[in-house]
Amino acid sequence: MLNIALPKGRLGEKVYAMFEAAGYECPSIHENNRKLIFENPEKQVRYFWVKPSDVAIYVERGAADLGIAGKDILLEYSPNVYELLDLDMGKCRMAVAGPADFYDDGKQTLRVATKFTNIAANYYAGIGREIDIIKLNGSIELAPILGLSNVIVDIVETGTTLKENNLVVMETIVPISARLISNKSSFQFKHTQIADILKSLKAQVESK
Ligand code: PRP
Repeated sequence: MLNIALPKGRLGEKVYAMFEAAGYECPSIHENNRKLIFENPEKQVRYFWVKPSDVAIYVERGAADLGIAGKDILLEYSPNVYELLDLDMGKCRMAVAGPADFYDDGKQTLRVATKFTNIAANYYAGIGREIDIIKLNGSIELAPILGLSNVIVDIVETGTTLKENNLVVMETIVPISARLISNKSSFQFKHTQIADILKSLKAQVESK
């Protein structure tokens, strides 16, 4: 049985459709209920819906053989998994943003609010800027508005959230998209099935 962790939400549903097209369908997944786990014994496949930021944990620990995780999560937590394919979906970017009138003269420690403390720390270490990281768990945009931080490091997709809070992108750190990831030992022991899926998903991405 191949275990696949899908990120709950629209992206996960789109990715499931790709697995379906690859021949690994599981019709019961379309039942409208709050079940989290679905399997198709005939195809030897089992899907489960998990919080997007938890997918890599399931895969790293082998509870899932395959999963779909954002590059943001992979960069932030460096899980010990194989990154098999860029799905070219769920595209956004990791960026530094702040009030339009904020100018960093470099004289003071920069206060940076973020959920992605490792990405932020690495980015600023790379440009040699001293920072004070303020770890938040959500509504990051509030921090510079209330003076809790000078800037934020966060995901920007459409830019609407920033705009509605009078913030602007100052630097793009890295582009982000959804990736197919595999547990390392599953990749070895379930290689036939995984290689078959990978081949089909790759072809689907390329023909988009
Ligand atoms: C992310 C991010 C921004 C928003 C950006 O939050 O933290 O708040 O999306 O998107 P936009 O540029 O299209 O406005 P998300 O919705 O993922 O929820 P979260 O706060 O739980 O991370």
